[in-house]
Amino acid sequence: MAELTAVVRDAAEVVVGPEEAERGDDASAPLVRREDAAVAVVDGRVAAVGPSDEVTREHPPENAAVAVDAAGKSVIPGFVDAHTHALFAGDRSDEFEAKLRGKTYQEIMAEGGGILRTVGATRAASDDDLLEILLSHLDTMLAHGTTTAEVKSGYGLDVETELRMLEVVARADERHPIDVVPTFMGAHAVPPGVDADDYVDEVVSEQLPAVEAQGIAEFCDVFCDEGAFTVEASRRVLEAGREAGLAPKIHADEFATLGGSRLAADLGATSADHLLRSTDEDVEALVEAGVVPVLLPGTAFALGAGYADAGAFLDRGAPVAVATDFNPNCYSQSLGFAASLACVGMRMTPAQALVSVTRNGALALDRTDGLGTLREGAPADLVVLDAPSHVHLPYNFAVNAVETVLKGGEVAHARNGSGAAHE
Ligand code: NIG
Ligand code: FE
Repeated sequence: MAELTAVVRDAAEVVVGPEEAERGDDASAPLVRREDAAVAVVDGRVAAVGPSDEVTREHPPENAAVAVDAAGKSVIPGFVDAHTHALFAGDRSDEFEAKLRGKTYQEIMAEGGGILRTVGATRAASDDDLLEILLSHLDTMLAHGTTTAEVKSGYGLDVETELRMLEVVARADERHPIDVVPTFMGAHAVPPGVDADDYVDEVVSEQLPAVEAQGIAEFCDVFCDEGAFTVEASRRVLEAGREAGLAPKIHADEFATLGGSRLAADLGATSADHLLRSTDEDVEALVEAGVVPVLLPGTAFALGAGYADAGAFLDRGAPVAVATDFNPNCYSQSLGFAASLACVGMRMTPAQALVSVTRNGALALDRTDGLGTLREGAPADLVVLDAPSHVHLPYNFAVNAVETVLKGGEVAHARNGSGAAHE
């Protein structure tokens, strides 16, 4: 017999998701919202969503393991953070200060700071230390409403540490309520003293076969930019990644427009990320090829750079995803804050911003089972906001409005005194 796991009742609104939940639909389509609504969860999936009296009649809260009174509150899908570098050791807060004094990200990188500095700290850390660091960041993400998060390797840049990072990501996935999606990113930077072409050879002929044999990573990502990897090198890595069973993703057009977007379109990559400097032709190519654009407004904010042109993608009906890019250069675990930046910095509507951190984040991770929505049958990952509508998510910027988080219908996080009743 099916087990009734949770009922969230009397919500001021339940946001179900975008009107059409098929990939490539008009991302500006209105949200499906239900007022005075409830959500019932059976076996970890949404069994019913609709008027509170009807849903609770059919699914009495007293029979549920978890009953949440959401009176006056907004219930939204759990956030899907489709781009993070959440596994790293060390501290680069001094680089934040240096950047404020006028140093550029690439000057810092050329001096051995930036990614390479984090590589040194990550190589030196033990597996258990790395796991502890990642779990603590995942706790913060969960408390801010994230229920699924991609995490990249890429601070090892050698076979041993890249594999160690992916192993730690898999261990964190087992232990933490957040579903963690592992991405291999050996091509994140060229290690010091190594010739760039030789390093690409190493990624392709040593790292990727080892990653394939390990069997953890799902995606392969590459930093295609000035001071990182050329389009040709990126193509080699992503094609070899695909042969190893890893779907391609790419960091493109962050600092320079090298042609990374065209490469993503050509390969039919799952996503192309950053896109701060993409041209109209790049946008056209990405949309035409069905590549999910992942915009990272926190990075633009932290760099003091211009934001990506979200409107260019939205006008063409692309399912724009917004992610945190959480890393030592962009130190925020909060997708709520990213949603505020998406609205104020990229002129997205609150509804578009919400879809970008939920359903479209799921599409950027190739999850098409309803993840990021609260449609019937979707995974019951949901957030109760301490606010009457989803608009408050971006509107109340830099404040965490998340009160309760359910993952698969179980309480994964409850702010003290939130009134979530669980037995
Ligand atoms: O997506 N741009 C490349 N990689 C990361 C930054 C990583 C770092 O600075 O440690 C990014 O922003
Ligand atoms: Fe990144």
